[in-house]
Amino acid sequence: MDGSRAALAIHDPPYNLVAFKETSIGEFTASCERWARSTLGWLAPDASLYVWLGADQTDGFQPLPDFMIMMRSLPVTARSFITMRNQRGYGTQKNWMAVRQELPYYTMGRPVFNVEAEYTDIPKILRGYYKKVNGTMTENMERSRSENIRAGNVWVDIQQVFYRMEENVSGCYAQKPLKCIDRIVRASSNIGQLVVDFFAHSGTTLLSCEISKRRCFTIDTDPVFCEIAIRRLEHYRKTGQFGWQNGHAFEDNIQVEFERVPEEPVSVKPLATPPVTQTLFF
Ligand SMILES: C[S@@+](CC[C@H](N)C(=O)[O-])C[C@H]1O[C@@H](n2cnc3c(N)ncnc32)[C@H](O)[C@@H]1O
Repeated sequence: MDGSRAALAIHDPPYNLVAFKETSIGEFTASCERWARSTLGWLAPDASLYVWLGADQTDGFQPLPDFMIMMRSLPVTARSFITMRNQRGYGTQKNWMAVRQELPYYTMGRPVFNVEAEYTDIPKILRGYYKKVNGTMTENMERSRSENIRAGNVWVDIQQVFYRMEENVSGCYAQKPLKCIDRIVRASSNIGQLVVDFFAHSGTTLLSCEISKRRCFTIDTDPVFCEIAIRRLEHYRKTGQFGWQNGHAFEDNIQVEFERVPEEPVSVKPLATPPVTQTLFF
């Protein structure tokens, strides 16, 4: 960090995604405590911390509750508990479909909060919350500062990333939509301020900071994701695009490798016994 202090940390740790190593809730919470304490050491006195988490309804709503309890021992103030609605969910015909992602928001000191960043593209549609202002009865449309609703702490306007979207980064199965990271970055930091993200993956925070003119330091334990995050930033600088849609970050290299392979006649040996099953890897 070279003496720099961040105004904002956005972390999205992996928890029992099939792609990553499975950990017990105790191990996961202990690792969260380590990176959360480490983060606090690099935050400015007035700063915000957002953490993406799940609440698995088939597993005691973990890891959310143990994480929240752990955070109570840290010198931060719990400020809001944001829920983002996914379009895809899981569940059965006998339970509510699980469509939520959790985003607890903590602060230290008195950090910036740019309320403009909270406004959505959703028009206000409900009337009828009456209040007296200077002796006159007004309804909420007359009092409001915007035609659109504030996101509040239930975000229903974020499209999950899928392969038809330009921002899609193939191979990054845990990619967060740029729109939700952008909302956090613009609300809880100012231009030129430093933002940190310890779990880069597809580099969404890095890209969002580039677009909104913040500085960003980000890391990932996996060098492939580090490379993808760097390439995504470079790709944006070169083309103005947010991702590769259904292309990918290594297109150039794979093409080069392809061209170098000398053509050889392919010989296929017939199998003594025909295979019973065939496994395909994508
Ligand atoms: C859920 S993904 C983050 C997604 C990211 N917000 C995005 O939008 O692309 C978690 C990432 O954390 C990385 N990771 C796992 N353990 C880590 C560790 N101890 N330190 C740093 N990164 C780690 C994984 O390699 C993975 O890329």
